[in-house]
Amino acid sequence: MTSVSMTVNGKTVSRDIDERTLLVQFLREHLHLTGTHIGCDTSQCGACVVHVDGEAVKSCSMLALSADSAEVLTIEGLAKGDALHPMQMAFQEHHGLQCGFCTPGMILTALDMVRRLGHQLDEETIRHELEGSLCRCTGYLNIVEAIAAGARALNARTSAALVTTD
Ligand code: FES
Ligand code: FES
Repeated sequence: MTSVSMTVNGKTVSRDIDERTLLVQFLREHLHLTGTHIGCDTSQCGACVVHVDGEAVKSCSMLALSADSAEVLTIEGLAKGDALHPMQMAFQEHHGLQCGFCTPGMILTALDMVRRLGHQLDEETIRHELEGSLCRCTGYLNIVEAIAAGARALNARTSAALVTTD
């Protein structure tokens, strides 16, 4: 056993864990943050994507110890009370989910896409970027539309914030 400490969704957490504990197991089994899903055992599906120090990672392919002292964001950290994050709203409005199993990973992958590539995301770019994210339900069309809309909504929100703080 060894001790690990990190900030998850803005809260500092420390636990004694087996050194072999994966980040996804740490989040689900130790912190009970079960919005991060496990959809494969080959690191292919992307259902387990979270952000570590601002970048998307597949939490099934990272040891919890490797995230020691890091800032981790999971799907549970996006909404503010009852107010969904703009990317969550976009998935809701554009019907970007059916069973919802892949959705947490899709949304965190989408936010990483916006961070790296900006707010004007075309279909080809989004589909290319979703290579490591599998959905068994939707056929991707609505997911692609949701991500493009969410990216635009985030841009509008950023612009509005700039205007109101001037
Ligand atoms: Fe991590 Fe599938 S559970 S990629
Ligand atoms: Fe069911 Fe994507 S919505 S797996």
